[in-house]
Amino acid sequence: MNKAPESYAKKAIKAPDRIRSMFNVVSGRYDLMNRLMTVGMDQRWRKIAAKSTDADSSSVVLDACTGTGDFALAVNSVTGAKVIGVDFSKDMLDLAREKAANTNTSANEDISFIEASVVNLPFSDNEFSAVTIGFGLRNTPDYRAVLREFLRVTKPGGKLVCLETSQPEYRILRSPARWFTSSLFPFIARIISNDYHAYRYLSDSMEVFPPQEELAQMMKEAGWAEVKYRNFFAGMVALHVATKGGK
Ligand SMILES: C[S@@+](CC[C@H](N)C(=O)[O-])C[C@H]1O[C@@H](n2cnc3c(N)ncnc32)[C@H](O)[C@@H]1O
Repeated sequence: MNKAPESYAKKAIKAPDRIRSMFNVVSGRYDLMNRLMTVGMDQRWRKIAAKSTDADSSSVVLDACTGTGDFALAVNSVTGAKVIGVDFSKDMLDLAREKAANTNTSANEDISFIEASVVNLPFSDNEFSAVTIGFGLRNTPDYRAVLREFLRVTKPGGKLVCLETSQPEYRILRSPARWFTSSLFPFIARIISNDYHAYRYLSDSMEVFPPQEELAQMMKEAGWAEVKYRNFFAGMVALHVATKGGK
């Protein structure tokens, strides 16, 4: 097992190179870990989130921090839109490409994957009908800057759909939730992926990520309008949807 300093997790939030290599390392077990940590609910949440893009078969949607491509595939299967998935981890993208190629749908033609950082997207202004991001924003070094970058590439009237870990709605659930993520996740990770530190980082990044209202406010400050959210899993996961004004 990797040896990592105590402060690894919090430092890693600001070190994109470490985030990238961490996701390269866990890529092979990432989907299994997702299913276990969400008790199999994550794919359902992505499908519900995909509907919120308001996209259709004439749309092109950007799926930022696409990872192994599950959100990109959900958007394509639910809306029929073409999707461009962007991620900076080559190993996660290799799995995404393989997954899209192995579906029985037109996903292979409709979805493409590009290796790039979401901090500085290789696209022009106003290119996409919607931007989606699932469990990705909390890994980026500057949430506000990334939200502004998403606004730049979205067409006026287009949507931002963000699925992310959040804070339980009921105060009484907050301590058990913290225990669940800080003890149980790394424990499952140790058994399954033998990479305790990676999942220790994941639970720490959840802890420092802004809760529902704060994230909604951050989106407004970045220029997004009509920001709304709903909770899943008693608020441990939240879906924020916002619109780019000026249609
Ligand atoms: C937790 S995974 C989420 C994957 C997928 N969206 C999902 O729904 O499961 C986070 C992904 O964000 C990517 N990522 C983190 N920071 C990034 C950045 N600055 N630019 C591009 N990708 C990034 C990681 O490589 C990783 O694949």
